[in-house]
Amino acid sequence: MCGIVGYFGNREAAPLLIEGLSKLEYRGYDSAGVAIIENGEIEVTKCKGRLKNLENKLEESPIHGMVGIGHTRWATHGQPSDVNSHPHSNKEQTISVVHNGIIENYIELREWLTSEGYEFKSQTDTEVIPNLVDYFYEGDLLKAVIKATKKMEGSYAIGVIAKNEPDKLVAVRKDSPLIVGIGKEESFIASDIPAVLAQTRDVYLLEDREFVILTKEGVKIVDSNENAIEKEVYKVTWDADAAEKGGYEHFMLKEIHEQPKAIKDTMTSRIVKGQPIKLDDITITKEEIKKLNKVYIVACGTAYHAGVVGKYVIEKLARIPVEVDIASEFKYRDPIIDENSLMIIISQSGETADTMSALRLAKEKGARVIAVTNVVGSTASREADDVLYTWAGPEIAVASTKAYVTQLIAMYIIALFFAQNKETVSNEKLEEIKEEMLALPEKVEKAFECKEAIEKMTAETVNEKDMFFLGRGLDYAVALEGSLKLKEISYIHSEAYAAGELKHGPIALIEEGTVVVALGTQEELFDKTVSNVQEVVSRGAKVYAIAKEGHREVEKTANSAIYVPRVMDLLAPVVTVIPLQLFSYYMSIAKGCDVDKPRNLAKSVTVE
Ligand code: M6R
Repeated sequence: MCGIVGYFGNREAAPLLIEGLSKLEYRGYDSAGVAIIENGEIEVTKCKGRLKNLENKLEESPIHGMVGIGHTRWATHGQPSDVNSHPHSNKEQTISVVHNGIIENYIELREWLTSEGYEFKSQTDTEVIPNLVDYFYEGDLLKAVIKATKKMEGSYAIGVIAKNEPDKLVAVRKDSPLIVGIGKEESFIASDIPAVLAQTRDVYLLEDREFVILTKEGVKIVDSNENAIEKEVYKVTWDADAAEKGGYEHFMLKEIHEQPKAIKDTMTSRIVKGQPIKLDDITITKEEIKKLNKVYIVACGTAYHAGVVGKYVIEKLARIPVEVDIASEFKYRDPIIDENSLMIIISQSGETADTMSALRLAKEKGARVIAVTNVVGSTASREADDVLYTWAGPEIAVASTKAYVTQLIAMYIIALFFAQNKETVSNEKLEEIKEEMLALPEKVEKAFECKEAIEKMTAETVNEKDMFFLGRGLDYAVALEGSLKLKEISYIHSEAYAAGELKHGPIALIEEGTVVVALGTQEELFDKTVSNVQEVVSRGAKVYAIAKEGHREVEKTANSAIYVPRVMDLLAPVVTVIPLQLFSYYMSIAKGCDVDKPRNLAKSVTVE
């Protein structure tokens, strides 16, 4: 979590740092701050709350200088407050640091530094870093940072400036993302590419423990022995507009509407009519696929929900047993995983700490790992054996939408690829599925036509405190996602249940007027779902059914019906999720919530 930026050049640093931070607010927005070298002194301005507060403060008392660092925070250690905001400095304010990650041994380091006469003001783990750097500082900032990092355990991406070396910015990463932007006579550091994209498209994607030094001479990258490292420049090809709202009121709405394109891009060159599926980035062989005894899909949040769909489709098409796990639980249950197991991790950001821990555990046990991720150069993409990129483009809203549908597409692609190699599905069937997949962008476009019905549903349910989402089979997997979306951006409590499970307990919660969203897009299970709907209707529930076009009989049971375009059951999650995304979006607006930046959340959860 948290976003860091840094600037070295010959322009005013403050506006550039603010601009960069505005593109990183999705990583956290509890507080923000900058440290800039002005007339040989480090000047720090920081405060609790959104970036706007920092901007106002800087307008009142500007800082002028051409070297600086900035931070937007998602609180881990220490509540959101001015004093806990970054940058953090040593007492004399000769060293300032911005940090994304967690220093796990900070208590021990703090005690030791305190015994050496250092003083601490905040409750953060980060504050040990400037003090450690100060402890080791003997006139060379790089050397001091290298020594300090040797003492630090945990994860970090840090940017450091020093009063005594005003013409230098040093940065390094370990298990937290960091990129370097290369401009003309200027350079940048940032947690993510959108932060520098308005200034440059040339970036270095840093690896763990690569130290970067920004000076007048340009960008230098060295290892911990100060040996120079040559790196390839990565040219960003996607449009800067992809990270802007482009006329939409919120990123979330824009990203919902980008789904047809994102789906198409994710299928391009992988799903081609009449041709076998070829996955250039996946090196697993036919023999290895045939030998697989188990697939583990591991992920968090929305990505986990895509994994639940993955389990259904891989088992159905490729006939390989699949376990789907919440990443934070996976490693603590001592999973039975070996060289004949495959792990698929799903992570939009490719940085989620729990998911990365699962990946590392699987590799330790000799399993092969495929990463399904949306971020080129992310930790997941670098550490996995194979990568299947979802080409959703940057997803800025905290609530995941286009990343989810492209993760679904990735699950279908992998399932079909395995089925093709294991010959568990006939060529005719494979072709039929592929053809329907190729029609999905159009179907999703059509699914947006439910907008009015969803706005009406929102108006009718805006005062509800609790809701239920029900479904069977793949509808249950989508119900999980619909429920999460509603909770995270409208703060309405909701539960998703497998429709058949309801009568084993939760039905006790159904009373007159309880809102139930029932998903009934799975033809084979339709009648059973309708029976479950009847069970809740007869106990007073107000039911909104989501069904495929043509299934008008749901209107006899449900109070209201919303229709999605007809697609084969297997692919239905891609269209079924659309009304649920829109419902959470309109509900969030109706309740006056912050759609793109819901309370207590951050886009990328890089702490366990
Ligand atoms: O970047 P990741 O896909 O690994 O993130 C996983 C979850 O944190 C994420 O999907 C989260 O649940 C979203 N806020 C849901 O909208």
